[in-house]
Amino acid sequence: MKLSIASLLLGALPLAKSYSPWPLPASYTTGTTALYVSQSISFSSVTDNNEKVSNTLLSDAFQRYSEAIAGGMGCSDAARSLRESPPPQAAAEVSTCTIKVSSPSNSPSLSVDTDESYDLSIGEDGSCKITATTEFGVIHALESLSHLAGESCSIENAPINISDKPRFAYRGLMIDSARHFLPVHFIEHIIDTMAASKLNVLHWHISDTESFPSGSDLFPELAEKGAYTYPDASYSVQDLKGIVSYAYNRGIRVMPEWDVPGHGSWGKGKPEVTILDGSCSNTLDPTNPYVYTFLHSFLTEMADIFPDANLFLGGDEVDTSCFTSSPTVSKWMDDNSIEDGVALQSYFWQQVTAQVMPGLNKTLGVWMADDGIPYPEDLPEGSFGNVWQSQSMMPTVIDRGADVVLSGPWYLDQQQPGGFQTYALQAIWQGMYQVEPFDGLSESQQGSVLGGEACMWAEGVNAMDFDAIAVTKAAAVAERLWAEQTVVDVDDAQDRLMEHVCRLNMRGVAAKAIAQNFCLSDVL
Ligand SMILES: *[C@@H]1O[C@H](CO)[C@@H](O)[C@H](O)[C@H]1NC(C)=O
Ligand SMILES: *[C@@H]1O[C@H](CO)[C@@H](O)[C@H](O)[C@H]1NC(C)=O
Repeated sequence: MKLSIASLLLGALPLAKSYSPWPLPASYTTGTTALYVSQSISFSSVTDNNEKVSNTLLSDAFQRYSEAIAGGMGCSDAARSLRESPPPQAAAEVSTCTIKVSSPSNSPSLSVDTDESYDLSIGEDGSCKITATTEFGVIHALESLSHLAGESCSIENAPINISDKPRFAYRGLMIDSARHFLPVHFIEHIIDTMAASKLNVLHWHISDTESFPSGSDLFPELAEKGAYTYPDASYSVQDLKGIVSYAYNRGIRVMPEWDVPGHGSWGKGKPEVTILDGSCSNTLDPTNPYVYTFLHSFLTEMADIFPDANLFLGGDEVDTSCFTSSPTVSKWMDDNSIEDGVALQSYFWQQVTAQVMPGLNKTLGVWMADDGIPYPEDLPEGSFGNVWQSQSMMPTVIDRGADVVLSGPWYLDQQQPGGFQTYALQAIWQGMYQVEPFDGLSESQQGSVLGGEACMWAEGVNAMDFDAIAVTKAAAVAERLWAEQTVVDVDDAQDRLMEHVCRLNMRGVAAKAIAQNFCLSDVL
């Protein structure tokens, strides 16, 4: 943050606190003039030629953010009643904000190529201007605006000029609805918390060995028999579509995942696609040709429900004894000269590439463990690997031909991230914050990094404690993925993150506190 000369000179005076957007914008300059923010701030949107733009993406966003500002950290009636040092009576008020969208659309595409950039300026006279290429840039700008309004419904540091864009196009949060079922309304709540930190990919690990809550009109038996309880702990096709649309309205892509060939519960509803005579009843049988026909049909239905360009199919941690313990699979391997379980996995992915993916029009993503399986060579061109164990695997995966998303240092359920041998939340978020995704990569390898993802595996987390365990740390990862590479000061980040946690608390998110401070939510 660049401070003006005036603010340096006034630094010794007890100025009211000013607030900054989280994650820190690419460029953020501030002054020292205090303004009021109207509790009923209004928005208007026009094209570059000053023609009025109206679409539901924008009108919904205007509604959400005027409410967030009016009821939020600084502007609620309760907050106003507690103000200690309001701006002078004569201070200007931010009461309306003018927005220019240069490429307006009712249904802008949302992908790694979406332009999320925006400019936001607040003048000393209370003027507020936003410019962006897309509606999604506007939504980020409104989120930032809602962060600027602090205590006493004021902005203390006008003029403010923000020129912002993300460092990485893929900034994900993974949720796991297989170990604990997450109700639809709670997934929407998670999406709200993602938008608050400008995360833009919800990676939805829908099913796993424990349950298969994912509804399907073609194969309803999968959820009927695979959910913990049906239909209460399952997602209907309508639910799935509703979540996709809720997320889209907030600039968030939903990338679904059904893990194959292991980590599944396909066998509960469709035993015929699994290995029936081995030690693992839920592993798909790579030697059964119907498996590929089935996956293609199932995923064709899902491709329509989830319009995102990415499809995630898991692929890691296959227990090869699932294959070798099965007499029929073992015999098939002998007959087809496939020497071991690793080679059989190669065969599986080659069949997925040849028979399942064609026609889906999706870019494939898989988990990429330290053993390098699935091998990038067996996947369709352009696939990406989610590097979930050692960050040092990134160059190997890239050199073998896949793009990468980094998640290994950002497992939110882990207690020893990035070498910090401790349980303290403080050290954990700091450890996560200090990860640099480009470490160990050459300049040309860096071009293959799509971004990163925080993963909230749900063995030990459900809707009751999700916020406390996930949200603060995911916010730390969000700044790492959005802010410039030079933003590395942990102490500076801590003060701003405490503000952000307070803001989230004021919005009803049970984000965990990280250090001692006062938040209005403590007295409301
Ligand atoms: C801030 O933005 C305003 C309005 O867009 C512009 O007039 C002003 O020159 C900008 N100031 C700085 C320091 O960039
Ligand atoms: C394929 O996917 C892309 C990006 O998701 C989309 O723009 C395009 O329309 C799709 N093509 C077909 C034939 O569905």
